[in-house]
Amino acid sequence: MPRFLTLDDIDVRGKRVLLRADLNVPVKDGKVTDATRIERLAPTIEELLGRGAAVVVMSHFGRPKGKPGPELSLRPVIAPLRQALGGREIAFAEDCIGEPARRVAAALEPGEVALLENLRFHSGEEANSPDFAKALAELGQVYVDDAFSAAHRAHASIAALAHLLPAAAGRLMEAELAALTAALEHPARPLMALIGGAKVSTKLDLLRFIIGKVDVLAIGGAMANTMLFAQGVGIGRSLCEREMREQARLILDLAAERGCRVILPEDAVIAAELSRTAPAPTVAIDAVGGDMMILDIGPATVARIAAALDEARTLVWNGPLGAFETPPFDRGTVAVATKVAELTRAGRLRSVAGGGDTVAALAAAGVTDALSYVSTAGGAFLEWLEGRELPGVAALARAARQD
Ligand code: 3PG
Ligand code: MG
Repeated sequence: MPRFLTLDDIDVRGKRVLLRADLNVPVKDGKVTDATRIERLAPTIEELLGRGAAVVVMSHFGRPKGKPGPELSLRPVIAPLRQALGGREIAFAEDCIGEPARRVAAALEPGEVALLENLRFHSGEEANSPDFAKALAELGQVYVDDAFSAAHRAHASIAALAHLLPAAAGRLMEAELAALTAALEHPARPLMALIGGAKVSTKLDLLRFIIGKVDVLAIGGAMANTMLFAQGVGIGRSLCEREMREQARLILDLAAERGCRVILPEDAVIAAELSRTAPAPTVAIDAVGGDMMILDIGPATVARIAAALDEARTLVWNGPLGAFETPPFDRGTVAVATKVAELTRAGRLRSVAGGGDTVAALAAAGVTDALSYVSTAGGAFLEWLEGRELPGVAALARAARQD
């Protein structure tokens, strides 16, 4: 893990801290529907306030492409942020730079919080513009980045800004990096990866990287269909990236070469259509009818994965193992999630999961709190699983070296 400063290394008393958060949360009809990211951010704000800082929170929201618009205002976030901070008042600046932002920031006393309007209302944010970063830097004396889930974006508030002010990681950033690094860099072994989701094509780099790291790789979801297809298994009308056949083969060959054991489905729950009411028999994987679709892993596959989990000491999980949004095709994912939760609770497994769908599946299975660590990140979690350097993390490390 690259070295960077944390809140332990900086003095914030009497200072205005510019805090990069990821408040890109789901909103429906003007209401935040999942406040997880806000709740996970709150301890960093509380700590800064408790140490005598004033905190100016900034974030992107959605993808407004450099143009302001009320639909992508951060205003809906004020109420849940306030709630997460025990009812504290939150000042709001209707622009993240210029006069409105300066006025709100200048009026803040130690112990007070302000939120700036959506950073992406300015094209300079995504362009990593030095001028835009300078305009942000004017608003505070110290920079804290707590937006691990946006660390894969080389944007001004994440990259350029980190070099204009003393910079440190917030507690959420620190926790994410500690958990992910512990799982992949120095795990207790055997280390197992559970990778699901729809497409092999979006996870090729991830599979290639992870094969060099893990002892066991279990693949589920529609991406397993592509793997099975590559092995010549008849998969009927299942979702499959037929053009990825060669790539899938290469992945399996690479795993064999590296001594990484691969678990693919040996049975499946199939149906003629993706619906809650269609007959959904379980069949052996070589008995999928030509007009049927594989929609979940079957109980024999669940048992095989469970046996591997029994042996494993560390697990990294990304992607659901079936079409979990449509019961009964959630059963495989729920069964495996329940097993992971049991082993983790018993202290036999360290389990780390991330990615939007994965987190939703864990929540549906009711086991989110039982895992060792659930990341707030989607895209950043995937890029980390690809072994890529995240610009936000790199910027903090570089800033620490300049210090
Ligand atoms: C996310 O939710 O994945 C992050 O906030 C990054 O958002 P983006 O994909 O729009 O850059
Ligand atoms: Mg994203």
